[in-house]
Amino acid sequence: MSREPSIPAMGDAVSGRERSSPAAVGSARFRRIMGHYPTGVTIVTAVGRDGTPVGLTANSVTSVSLDPPLVLVCVSEKSSSLGAILANGAFAVNILGAGAAATAVRFAEGRRTDRFDDVAFTVKEGGGPVLEGAVAWMTCGLYRTFEAGDHVILVGKVNDGEAAGGDPLVFVRGRYEDLTTAGDRPGSGHCDGLLQPPGDQ
Ligand SMILES: Cc1cc2nc3c(=O)[nH]c(=O)nc-3n(C[C@H](O)[C@H](O)[C@H](O)COP(=O)(O)O)c2cc1C
Repeated sequence: MSREPSIPAMGDAVSGRERSSPAAVGSARFRRIMGHYPTGVTIVTAVGRDGTPVGLTANSVTSVSLDPPLVLVCVSEKSSSLGAILANGAFAVNILGAGAAATAVRFAEGRRTDRFDDVAFTVKEGGGPVLEGAVAWMTCGLYRTFEAGDHVILVGKVNDGEAAGGDPLVFVRGRYEDLTTAGDRPGSGHCDGLLQPPGDQ
C-alpha cells in the first residue's frame, strides 16, 4: 500500500524529523562543503528610514519562481542591513562583474559605514541602490519572510531589472574567481532555451 508523503505546512519546521535527526554538522565543515558549490556574488541593498543606503555582500541569492518572478536571499539575523530591508519592504540585488571583488570585500566587512563611499549608484524606487557596473540587477518588493536558523529568508517579487551583460564574479572554495576562460572550454556554451523561454521579453 502506497502512502502519500506528508508535506509540512508552509513555513513550519519539520518537527518530527528535526527531533530524530542526528547531531548537526559543525559550521566550519558546513562552510567547507558549501564552498564547493560555486555561486555568483551580489550586493543586496536597500534604503534606511533616514534615506541612508545600506548593503551587504550576499551569495545566497536563488531564483524561486518564474510566475510570479520570485527570488530569495538569506540574510543573517545579525546583519545590520536587515532592519532597513524589512522596514523598506523592498530591496535590490546587484550581480557583480568579474572585476568587482574589491566591492564584494568592502560590502562584507563588518560594520563599515563607508561602503557606499566612491561607489556610483542610482536608487531605484521599489528597490534600493543599483550599483554602476553591476552585470545585472533587479529590484524586489518584499513578498514573504521566513525565519530559518540564524538567518531570515527574504523572498522578493521582482519588479524590474536588467542584465547589462559581462562576466560575473564567482565565489568558490572561499575565493573570488572569474569566468573569463569558461567560454573556451570544450563542452561549454550558452543554452538559450534556459536563458530565454519562448515568448519571454
Ligand atoms: C562571498 C560572500 C557571501 C556572503 N553571503 C551572505 C549571505 O548570503 N547572507 C548574509 O547574511 N551574509 C553573507 N555574507 C556576509 C556579509 O556580507 C557580512 O556579514 C556583512 O558584514 C554583513 O553586513 P551588515 O551587517 O552591514 O548587513 C557573505 C560574505 C561573503 C564574503
